Amino acid sequence: MERVMGGVVPLVLGGLGLVLLYRLLQRLQQGATIQDTVVVITGASSGLGRECARVFHAAKARLVLCGRDGARLQDVVQELIATAADSQQQTYTPCMVIFDLSDTAEVVAMAAKEILSCYGHVDILINNAGISHRGNILETHISVQRDVMDTNYFGPIALTQALLPSMVRRHSGHVVVISSVQGKIAIPYRSAYAASKHATQAYFDCLRAEMERYNIQVTVVSPGYIRTNLSLNAVTCDGSKYGGNGEELTGHSFSAFPLPLCNYISHLFISLLSTLVKSWMRQQL
Ligand SMILES: NC(=O)c1ccc[n+]([C@@H]2O[C@H](COP(=O)([O-])OP(=O)(O)OC[C@H]3O[C@@H](n4cnc5c(N)ncnc54)[C@H](OP(=O)(O)O)[C@@H]3O)[C@@H](O)[C@H]2O)c1
Repeated sequence: MERVMGGVVPLVLGGLGLVLLYRLLQRLQQGATIQDTVVVITGASSGLGRECARVFHAAKARLVLCGRDGARLQDVVQELIATAADSQQQTYTPCMVIFDLSDTAEVVAMAAKEILSCYGHVDILINNAGISHRGNILETHISVQRDVMDTNYFGPIALTQALLPSMVRRHSGHVVVISSVQGKIAIPYRSAYAASKHATQAYFDCLRAEMERYNIQVTVVSPGYIRTNLSLNAVTCDGSKYGGNGEELTGHSFSAFPLPLCNYISHLFISLLSTLVKSWMRQQL
């Protein structure tokens, strides 16, 4: 069974990737362009956020990079400037806004004001920052469940809500959130992470339907595994750093795909079906 799963899952994910790529190319052909757009990226100091910063900076976007650690963000800015200088490209020097997404909604709203003061508006908000969780439910402190929820769910929704009025006024904008495949399928020993990503999926699905009338797009990205520092920075049952790569977990042997293959395929079909139904319902509204 493991062998079958090893072949089918990459095939299905690869197929979905091709469809997304085709849609992206279609959009590019339609003239969508990134140059001069104001792009806000949270969690820009590492991993996926840092990579997004490289891609958007090379495309000459006006960037606002967010994170908790000013020194690490400054390193990213220096690297972007150096790369642009090497290739003799005229690019914008990114702005930095430093804040903790797990802080109160008031603090996040203040950060949103600072973000808006950089270029006066936001075209694309990429809610990327996040932390993961490794630990069984029996031993995970409720405070850890809350902390992960604060960073992965309440922080991004507070930031989004604080920036939305400006997008609504301009009748333009794109809100992106980096969720996870675990926002669709929950796997053991990651309860806080999977729960926060499920909540994220639901909130931004609602937002997409509510924002359509204001010409604001909402995209939920649900990646599978990407080699970044996410596992290293994951929190364990007592909130301490996990520091591992996800292979072992507090004495339990861990498999990334612990359920039978048919469960994943049925989840996938339900998810695709619900996407089709939702899109049909939106057309009827
Ligand atoms: N890697 C994967 O396999 C994978 C798969 C699916 C989805 N994702 C999602 O991709 C996103 C990016 O993760 P990554 O893989 O790039 O991990 P990463 O390398 O650990 O980067 C996480 C980023 O989030 C920031 N961050 C963490 N807690 C924060 C807080 N409380 N306030 C503000 N910023 C905070 C970190 O910044 P500082 O620590 O410098 O503040 C860092 O820049 C996450 O939402 C993650 O759930 C990752």
